[in-house]
Amino acid sequence: MLDRALIWASEKERIKHFVTQGKLAGVAHRFVAGDDLEDAIEAIKELNSKGIGGILDLLGEGVTDPAGAAAASHAYRESVKRIDETGIDTTVSIKLTQLGLAFDKGACIDYVRKLAAEAGAIGTSIEIDMEQSEYVVDTLDVFRLLSADFPDLRVAVQVYLRRTPVDLETLSALKPRVRLVKGAYAEPEQIAFQKRKEIDAQYRFLTQWLFERGTDPGIATHDSKLVEHAKKIARATGAGDRGFEIQMLYGIRQDYQEELARQGFRVRAYVPFGPDWYPYLMRRMAERPANLRFFLRALAGK
Ligand code: FDA
Repeated sequence: MLDRALIWASEKERIKHFVTQGKLAGVAHRFVAGDDLEDAIEAIKELNSKGIGGILDLLGEGVTDPAGAAAASHAYRESVKRIDETGIDTTVSIKLTQLGLAFDKGACIDYVRKLAAEAGAIGTSIEIDMEQSEYVVDTLDVFRLLSADFPDLRVAVQVYLRRTPVDLETLSALKPRVRLVKGAYAEPEQIAFQKRKEIDAQYRFLTQWLFERGTDPGIATHDSKLVEHAKKIARATGAGDRGFEIQMLYGIRQDYQEELARQGFRVRAYVPFGPDWYPYLMRRMAERPANLRFFLRALAGK
């Protein structure tokens, strides 16, 4: 219930105003590198020094006008330039609704194509986040269309969606590069599993699928049981300890990230930056009551 209320709040403008103008801006910095690209670059340099790669993420989603999409595209391209100048080890993650998917799919595809080409030219790659269920079909279409030209392109798929095993089957000819996530949005029961047990079971099943039929699986979870499961399958399928990537979020289970990197696994942390942090922060609150207590203490000024 509480998690649904928080995800609902993440989409409400008035609550957003109250939170972002208040003391909670401080809380955001536990999960967000900062307001500027340079903050994220510094955070990634620090991660790189510990053997952890970055996944750079410019916060923002649900853009509703062409000027907003053009501005996001420009900001992403600036990020790619700075990655080249600084030599940091990071990919770039994008949200297609930030590039206008909801109102101009063709322009969105052009933006992603340009960005993927520029990222490829400097030796990095693009990852596509998965958003609310209404965007799944279009997001997978964009991935399908561009992955032939850009084989390093990765797309996130959400295991809580009942449809995901079928979606992966339809992508199997591509041997898709996938980031496997549980799913962070409030979706109704007809569309998404709600019970932890069901979500975990689907996570395990799809992990196996990706090692057998995908390319370089991205196991994106903080759940040690699921990470252990992936390690076991990597060994059983011959992919080995470096035949997949473990991905986590900035500010969450940092010690675990470092430990896995020390053990020789490939680890990447998703590093969000930008002033538009409100929906992202609310989704992190929804995932974990302990974060909510931290959040409420900040609200009370303690
Ligand atoms: P779960 O929530 O069950 O947590 C397992 C354990 O991890 C917890 O017991 C706790 O110890 C720790 N933990 C988890 N969340 C925490 C938090 N917020 N604070 C502190 N500790 C926490 N989703 C989506 O819909 N589309 C996307 O594109 C992406 N992209 C993405 C990239 C990367 C790199 C990651 C790691 C995650 C995403 N997600 C996402 C989010 C994902 O769907 C999911 O909501 C979160 O990863 C939380 O789920 P876990 O798998 O970590 O398990």
